[in-house]
Amino acid sequence: MDASEVKEAVREKYTAAARAVNTAEGSCCGPSKASGCDAITSNLYDTTQTDALPETAVLASLGCGNPTALAQLSPGETVLDLGSGGGIDVLLSARRVGPTGKAYGLDMTDEMLALARENQRKAGVENVEFLKGEIENIPLPDNSVDVIISNCVINLSGDKDRVLREAIRVLKPGGRFAVSDVVTRGEVPAEMREKVLLWVGCIAGALRDKEYEDKLAKAGFQSIGIEPTRVYAVEDARELLAGKGVDVDALAPLVEGKFMSAFIRAVKPVKETEKTTATCCAPGCCG
Ligand SMILES: C[S@@+](CC[C@H](N)C(=O)[O-])C[C@H]1O[C@@H](n2cnc3c(N)ncnc32)[C@H](O)[C@@H]1O
Repeated sequence: MDASEVKEAVREKYTAAARAVNTAEGSCCGPSKASGCDAITSNLYDTTQTDALPETAVLASLGCGNPTALAQLSPGETVLDLGSGGGIDVLLSARRVGPTGKAYGLDMTDEMLALARENQRKAGVENVEFLKGEIENIPLPDNSVDVIISNCVINLSGDKDRVLREAIRVLKPGGRFAVSDVVTRGEVPAEMREKVLLWVGCIAGALRDKEYEDKLAKAGFQSIGIEPTRVYAVEDARELLAGKGVDVDALAPLVEGKFMSAFIRAVKPVKETEKTTATCCAPGCCG
């Protein structure tokens, strides 16, 4: 598939997922009934976070981590969620940055945007705006965002270098990249990699951790770090892989510990010429 075919496949998948939130019956193993019950999207948020959210925002959760729990967010900051889906992380961030801050959600799928806006209405939150657009071409000005979050979306892009270039463009100097994503670690045989990533839902393919770090550095980020948050066992995919003619017992030792959700951090550097302005305009000090 080329990048535009990947994008169409992703859009179709998430159009169906947004519709499923309003039609699926009951939830069997966690909050995510849009994606079915799986080891990746279930039980990512604790009840102190979800209790105050509309049920349809929680049910639409399709991420693989909880970037709002790991990102540092302060009152007055501007946050952008790349691929905001039903809006769960945008609504949680809006609460953290407070009425003087703002949380943007960006998504390309109309049905997800409609769901997210409905969830915003139900939550009664005003410092939120959902934008239609693609993460490869972010519809916001240069140097306008303090923190970029994202939850299991960058792995879906067929042009990850462009996404990272756009991310650093819209971040302010000193701005933070704080993203949950699926990554792989170490050598995995190509065919196995493809089958497991299909299970994980990474249509365009997840990056290896080292490749992710290299792409972030190439885009201009500093202070790059990748922390595993959930490592997947082949057992989690036994049923699906067996249905694809894979000998799961033979596969297990080859993939064990190599597929994971991770929290990826990086910072946009502050240039010498920007230092005074950046310090003066830090949240809360320009009053
Ligand atoms: C795996 S879901 C994650 C949704 C949300 N972050 C969450 O945690 O529930 C992926 C979302 O990203 C959106 N998406 C995927 N690729 C995109 C792209 N290239 N540009 C904009 N949105 C995209 C999809 O429409 C979908 O809503």
